[in-house]
Amino acid sequence: MAEPLEKAALTPLLSEAQRVSSHAYAPYSHFLVGAAIQTTDGQIITGVNVENASYGLTHCAERTALFTAIAQGYAGKLKAIAIWANDVKQQYGQRFEGAATPCGACRQVMAELLPPDAEVQFVHPQTGAITHTTPSELLPLSFTL
Ligand code: THU
Repeated sequence: MAEPLEKAALTPLLSEAQRVSSHAYAPYSHFLVGAAIQTTDGQIITGVNVENASYGLTHCAERTALFTAIAQGYAGKLKAIAIWANDVKQQYGQRFEGAATPCGACRQVMAELLPPDAEVQFVHPQTGAITHTTPSELLPLSFTL
């Protein structure tokens, strides 16, 4: 039988995303997501997913963090975002193959608020493998005005 893969050490930004994910308000999906943004002056700004009984009003962790950063005066001063999600396989007993990657709406918001070559990190829930990518790679040809 194959040994489980050893989990890679989380980056400091991913660790922060993991820490805040315990604050997620996700009574419907039980899918706890945390996001942590690094600013150009070294601050870390976090966000979590916030669900609602009217499901469509739910906010993803990434957008919560990005909007909080803007509210704190960091427009144009963001350089990286890390996203951590709990292991849905553990939550639901179902097979979940991929990493929890940012949804389409969050990719469009990232394209607006992060530099195209900003660092985006997320982690595979079972293997611990870390993906390093960018907003332009996640959403080529994003909509702009
Ligand atoms: N969710 C996020 O917070 N970020 C994503 O990129 C994908 C989905 C949240 C929304 C909802 O609360 C739960 O995960 C299940 O979709």
